Amino acid sequence: MIRILFIVLAGLLVSCGSRKKVDREVFDAVNESMEVKKVNEVDIINKAIEWGNEITEEAQQELMGKLTTAINEKGVAGAVAFCNVEALPSLDEVSRKHKVVIRRVSHDFRNSSDRPNEKEEMLLQAYEYNEENDIQNKPNVQEIENGEILLYTKAITIPGKMCLNCHGDPNKDIDEATLAKIEKLYPQDKAKGHEVGDLRGMWSIAIPKKEVVKQL
Ligand code: HEC
Repeated sequence: MIRILFIVLAGLLVSCGSRKKVDREVFDAVNESMEVKKVNEVDIINKAIEWGNEITEEAQQELMGKLTTAINEKGVAGAVAFCNVEALPSLDEVSRKHKVVIRRVSHDFRNSSDRPNEKEEMLLQAYEYNEENDIQNKPNVQEIENGEILLYTKAITIPGKMCLNCHGDPNKDIDEATLAKIEKLYPQDKAKGHEVGDLRGMWSIAIPKKEVVKQL
């Protein structure tokens, strides 16, 4: 009985030993392919900018598509309630799809959850400085959280008159029913009084660096 056990154990040891050898080969192969890939920081940042541009484009289309449908179906005042309920969940949906966290932040926020956090604050101020000084705003990527997260940001300007229906001059651009709705849902609203071309805020996308590296 003891002898049989010994043989079984010896067999196990041999098979473990041989599996180890395979593991080592796999390990070496992975290392080698990473060597060949030679991922460097510049490539990572460029990829993050490219990906951030794509994600903001997609999120913008998602919001605009839904907003336009809501306005056509319910009118501008009705669409305010729609934005109130749907804007953030729509962004969350795109976030989940790409394993990132998408936000739109602004100093003139309508929804207080769009207030910038500490990291976003500095970047938003830089975009505001550029706007005031006629310097063109470009997308930016910063490393945060010990370099594990890449924070992509991009300015949001008011592209056309359509936005003024809800973000323009309350005496001129926003109709009475819409204004009443905005004031009811957002008593602390700061997002009125804009003109076409104004900086409205910025996109902020927290992208895990490892997700970017996977795409290289
Ligand atoms: C039908 C009214 C309506 C229109 C039209 C509209 N918005 Fe908004 N917007 C809102 C509402 C309501 C919110 C707050 C959404 C929330 O509670 O999450 C908002 C929020 C935002 C935010 C997030 C920051 C904040 O203030 O909370 C940005 C950025 C923004 N809008 C930009 C635009 C731009 C650019 C356009 C034109 C392309 C536009 N909006 C058109 C109603 C509107």
